[in-house]
Amino acid sequence: MRQGETFVIIGPSGCGKTTLLKAIAGFLRPARGRLLVEGSPAREPGPDRAVVFQDFDQLFAWRTVRDNIVYALRVACRVHGAAAGKRADDVLALVDITRAADRYPHELSGGMKQRAAIARALALEPTMLLMDEPFGALDAITRNQLQIELANIHRRTGVTIVLVTHSIQEALYLGDRVMVMTAHPARIREIVDTSAARDVETAEFAALTGRLRELLVHREEDDAGEPPDAALA
Ligand SMILES: Nc1ncnc2c1ncn2[C@@H]1O[C@H](COP(=O)(O)OP(=O)(O)OP(=O)(O)O)[C@@H](O)[C@H]1O
Ligand SMILES: [Mg+2]
Repeated sequence: MRQGETFVIIGPSGCGKTTLLKAIAGFLRPARGRLLVEGSPAREPGPDRAVVFQDFDQLFAWRTVRDNIVYALRVACRVHGAAAGKRADDVLALVDITRAADRYPHELSGGMKQRAAIARALALEPTMLLMDEPFGALDAITRNQLQIELANIHRRTGVTIVLVTHSIQEALYLGDRVMVMTAHPARIREIVDTSAARDVETAEFAALTGRLRELLVHREEDDAGEPPDAALA
């Protein structure tokens, strides 16, 4: 990963995307090989590598959105009191859910829960934002909206993003580079520079969509594994 880029990981179900993300986050230790974060082996989980998952239940149900963030700041960053409140308000504004600050998670839509989870992650001021299919369970319209906002957040904060997705459109819209993985055996097939493709209407976008599709297609020499994920769009 290069500092400040959006690095996308795409590949068939079960190829190890989540596992790789967890290893970067420090939740898992690689069985073989080495994983370096800023030149040193990936350490224990820390606020420098904040994680956002796909499921809607990552927030503490008994705390309001704002308190979820304040609590995370206290525990992970030892930021307390007014400073924590100020930072919570800033990130709530950044992801545009200020109006839901005092609501509990069960009072939020799926999209708002994901916004809250992203706000909480950003509050930690991580150097890396690790996202595992963060928009995978959202309807198409909300998903699109959050993709646009994530691009804006990325521009404004300069945070390095590692994003796992099953959507080629999402990979191209958000990614600077896209790493295509294969299953059986799980390998890196290729890392594609996609920084030229942002706008869906362009020829580059169409060409790179074709290229990624081709890379994701199952090949005979990969032996008889599962077909690529049906959800690939
Ligand atoms: N705790 C575990 N113990 C043993 N095997 C595991 C464990 N977690 C995952 N695996 C296996 O490791 C492989 C990679 O799983 P992983 O969840 O990383 O895949 P993925 O690429 O994220 O898939 P998906 O697209 O479905 O989310 C799978 O074969 C899975 O069954
Ligand atoms: Mg996964």
